[in-house]
Amino acid sequence: DKTGAVIPAAGQGKRMGGEGNKLFLEIAGTPVLVYTLRVFQKARSIAEIVIVAARDEIVLIEELVKKYELDKVVGVVEGGAQRQQSVKAGIQALSPEINRVVIHDGARPLLKIKELDHFLYNAQGYDAAIMAVPLKDTVKIVNEENTVLETPSREKLRAVQTPQVFCRSLLETAHREAETKIFLGTDDASLIEWMGQPVKVLDGTYENIKVTTPEDMLLAETILRRYRKDEMG
Ligand code: CTP
Ligand code: MG
Repeated sequence: DKTGAVIPAAGQGKRMGGEGNKLFLEIAGTPVLVYTLRVFQKARSIAEIVIVAARDEIVLIEELVKKYELDKVVGVVEGGAQRQQSVKAGIQALSPEINRVVIHDGARPLLKIKELDHFLYNAQGYDAAIMAVPLKDTVKIVNEENTVLETPSREKLRAVQTPQVFCRSLLETAHREAETKIFLGTDDASLIEWMGQPVKVLDGTYENIKVTTPEDMLLAETILRRYRKDEMG
């Protein structure tokens, strides 16, 4: 197998509340997106990387790729209005010999190389596998008036993250079908589920947060500081 990575980075970061794309925010002088890309650059299981960017940020990201010597990056391609469209564009830009695709949010800079390699190893033999963690909070389903309808049993719930890995041909078919039938999912696995195909859930970590709102930046800084301390022994 040859595994390629698609890193969607074409969002607007609206929930972060600041100006522009949150992926350019810096932690200890380095942009969030660069932390994410370094993991895929260094992981031995990854053959190449495609980054998906907003049209007016392509050049900026190409400059980061050069500056941080991310030589596994084979392309920075233009994304769409929805994450799903961005991912689709990314998959199309992978080399023909790539037969497994791992998708990972640009906004998840805290994944460790070891965790990625371990995940991809455990995902072998599955056409679709995703990383997830048990929920910490109780979840309730509510109606439009915010009255509780139901409390699903927590043991059965998982908070889904990326990475998510797929057999390339299955993922391409799913994206094509979803576009034709106008199905929009919030992650890539939901397209596979929609096609009636199984998705394997593998263990993630609570550190692998998505930087979404301002508090997440504080948390990300703290976790990265701890990673560095651990590295220095
Ligand atoms: N993304 C993308 N194309 C889009 C929307 C999102 O490539 N049209 C990417 C983001 O850049 C991010 C990942 O998908 O790396 C996860 O999305 P999210 O955390 O929602 O980021 P944003 O969409 O940028 O943030 P927000 O929803 O708050 O605007
Ligand atoms: Mg979004």
